[in-house]
Amino acid sequence: MKKKLIAGNWKMNGSLAANASLLQAVLEGSQGMNCQAAVCVPAAYLAQVQAVLAGQSLIALGSQDVSAQEVGAFTGEISAGMLKDFAVRYAIVGHSERRQYHAESDATVALKAQRALSAGITPIVCVGETLADREAGKTEEVVKRQLAAVIHTNGHCISEIVVAYEPVWAIGTGKTASPEQAQAVHAVLRAQLKAATEHAERVQILYGGSMNAANAAELLSQPDIDGGLIGGASLKAADFLQIIAAAAR
Ligand code: 13P
Repeated sequence: MKKKLIAGNWKMNGSLAANASLLQAVLEGSQGMNCQAAVCVPAAYLAQVQAVLAGQSLIALGSQDVSAQEVGAFTGEISAGMLKDFAVRYAIVGHSERRQYHAESDATVALKAQRALSAGITPIVCVGETLADREAGKTEEVVKRQLAAVIHTNGHCISEIVVAYEPVWAIGTGKTASPEQAQAVHAVLRAQLKAATEHAERVQILYGGSMNAANAAELLSQPDIDGGLIGGASLKAADFLQIIAAAAR
């Protein structure tokens, strides 16, 4: 059976001191668990977290974004090559907060995924509908359009990505998609991947949006939910560890 992946997205949270104690507790508590885990940290802390995670393979390092450009006069941007210098294994691309606050289009997200793949970094490609989309019955249409842009651009590499379904209305709101609602969308995404690659079963499709210690096990028991992308709960060691434990069962 394919291992589940639990990735924490710290968003714009943390400090040198807080990161050190969070990571120490997570590393201690996750010893021996049969699960892949990652922490996607603010770029400013990549060096710190790389050093803390060195020499172990249970918790991988991730970034929260990557530039769509390769190199040059792009003030404030961080390239895939730079991330690779810090042994970054995963890069989140197309998070709804980037799409919303930084006007990232499907085409930009696809380019970012391409940059990550070219540098040997696995992109975690986020898709998800807003509440208005869902109420208008457009959930399937929106997530398929968002994933199609990446599939179209990245063609043969498509089995090397991770997909994260994050309904926008469930992010940071405490409103989780029910296991049935999430599974229904994951099945749509799996079918879309199957049409694009014979290795679709190998692609991990994560769920994100108010996943926590209490609801993780049920969500993770769905056939097409291969892990979680965790925001708020990844900042509390005990909660993050309970989610990892639920995935390791
Ligand atoms: P929350 O878990 O805080 O809802 O955030 C989910 C998310 O956006 C992870 O990328």
